[in-house]
Amino acid sequence: MAVATVTDLGKYEAARLIIDQYIAGEKTLIGMLLDIQEEFNFLPQTVMTAIAEETGIPLAHLYGLATFYDGFSLNAQGRNHIKCCTGTACVVRGSRAILTELILDMGINPGEVTDDDAFSLEAVHCFGACAHGPILVTGEEYHGYVTSAKAREIIGKLRKADEEAGK
Ligand code: FES
Repeated sequence: MAVATVTDLGKYEAARLIIDQYIAGEKTLIGMLLDIQEEFNFLPQTVMTAIAEETGIPLAHLYGLATFYDGFSLNAQGRNHIKCCTGTACVVRGSRAILTELILDMGINPGEVTDDDAFSLEAVHCFGACAHGPILVTGEEYHGYVTSAKAREIIGKLRKADEEAGK
């Protein structure tokens, strides 16, 4: 398991540039957070603290925005973020076996990121699409009626796409 920290100087400098653009009036507050999210795949605590210190925006306000909008994540994510529904309707249809399959396949538990940053896993209580369960979400794509075999296939396609993209 990789614990995400902001120790990569290159990435931190990218964050500084984004913050400077906000201070210069070239970005809105949401725009700054979106760019940070895109750079790191989540909003690291270190960067959120730096934003608060350098802009004077209260940290509580920043976290209020980060938790209000679905597009932001406060947890580290891999290039491919996999969400598996563990709500009652999906569990009845076999989502626990799918989650186990994903844990074994990727070697991480929900809330963790693979060492190569390729995958992260999250267990979600309900996507509101219970009739099509079990539901698996990869990035913005919803997969319904997922089986363990289909989950393996989905992960395999994502690995192949990463390989083809040289990642
Ligand atoms: S319980 Fe899985 S989508 Fe609702």
